[in-house]
Amino acid sequence: MPADFDTIVNLATKRGFVFQSSEIYGGLRSAYDYGPLGVELLRNVKEQWWRSMVQLREDVVGVDTAVIQSPLVWVASGHVASFSDPLVECKVCHNRFRLDKLEDPNRCPECGAEGSFTEPRAFELMFKTHMGPVASEENLVYLRPETAQGIFINFENVRRTARKKLPFGIAQIGKSFRNEITPGQFVFRTREFEQMEMEYFCRPEEADDWFRYWLEARRDWYLELGMTEENLRLRPHAADELSHYSSGTYDVEYRFPWGWDELEGIANRTDFDLKAHAEMSGEDLRYFDPERNERFYPYVIEPAAGATRTTFAFLIDAYETETVRGDTRAVLRLDPRLAPIKVAVLPLSKKDELIAVSRELADSLRPHWMIEHDITQSIGRRYRRQDEIGTPFCVTVDFDTLDDRQVTVRERDSMAQDRIPIDRLIPYLEDRLP
Ligand code: GAP
Repeated sequence: MPADFDTIVNLATKRGFVFQSSEIYGGLRSAYDYGPLGVELLRNVKEQWWRSMVQLREDVVGVDTAVIQSPLVWVASGHVASFSDPLVECKVCHNRFRLDKLEDPNRCPECGAEGSFTEPRAFELMFKTHMGPVASEENLVYLRPETAQGIFINFENVRRTARKKLPFGIAQIGKSFRNEITPGQFVFRTREFEQMEMEYFCRPEEADDWFRYWLEARRDWYLELGMTEENLRLRPHAADELSHYSSGTYDVEYRFPWGWDELEGIANRTDFDLKAHAEMSGEDLRYFDPERNERFYPYVIEPAAGATRTTFAFLIDAYETETVRGDTRAVLRLDPRLAPIKVAVLPLSKKDELIAVSRELADSLRPHWMIEHDITQSIGRRYRRQDEIGTPFCVTVDFDTLDDRQVTVRERDSMAQDRIPIDRLIPYLEDRLP
């Protein structure tokens, strides 16, 4: 059975994937902290993205740019003028809503009042702060609302130093900030989140082909990491949904417990950004093609995914409950590349001689994978816990191990067990784990 929303939120908080931020102070709305398992899952998602988008590609390099950039960046990009949502306030209950997200624009979803909304006004989404000791207008800076602009303003630096010719891409993973009016659905929409973005620069006449290429490549990335095909779709944006910079966008959407929603946007940003930064900065950001002896602004295809949101989707997608010999077990069928813990080492009992062996075994595996050495509770309960956090393999040390130097390896999905000599364990696991 697939998971409902509350079950996943429960699992995430109970097992230490995600905690409400500032919980001991009553919690800060829409801010979350990643716990010991969540940080591993999130890191693994980002690592798989980086591997596929940068490491395995000759035509893409990475950067890591500042969160706080010149405020002119956001003037040039169009964010200062138009990165806002239309906000209405209910005159009865004083709650505020995004007009474009209201099911009925005449009825307040909170108190039910009819025709009680104020005129919409633009609500700026960028967080502002001040750089330096004086909180004045001249020192106003923004927390970046997307990682993309850090890439555009470094286009020439990267092209020159990495000696890249078109087509090529620049990738970045990092935090972005948006003062969302309606954050919600747990970590799906938060005000501080992580993005995984790549700007792919190409000749304008090749942009349509590259757009189609990246649509398919990005969809395949989710499927290859085990996401259920029926829960994934590509949806084209209608003309009135397009961002100010885009000539065409598709969303990769996931079927969340509340319905289809966005995981990633793939846009044709044309030459909007490079041109805008060239105009604002006075730098020539055109690309020079020595073979054709021509100078032009490349077009940009941008696959822009959310790392935190994607992590949440993998968690939802992997969760299943099933009945095994009359017992219900919850299992996270995460691809082993994403699983937070790869191997759990479990002594059958708390006897000192077993723990000595299992601890030594766990230590010998640690340089290879994330390991958990768990000595508490009955073996059945420990298996259930590992199933529920998605650990692909459990290795059990029992009393026979002391004589025959063999251990039992249990696989998460099939629950099949193999008896393996300790000195063959690493190659055995290497065949089955990334
Ligand atoms: N550079 C283009 C850009 O930022 P976007 O569609 O606004 O495009 C890209 O954002 C991705 O970032 C989204 O598909 C989503 O996964 C993630 N994202 C955006 N806002 C978010 C939020 N408030 N909370 C969590 N993830 C968010």
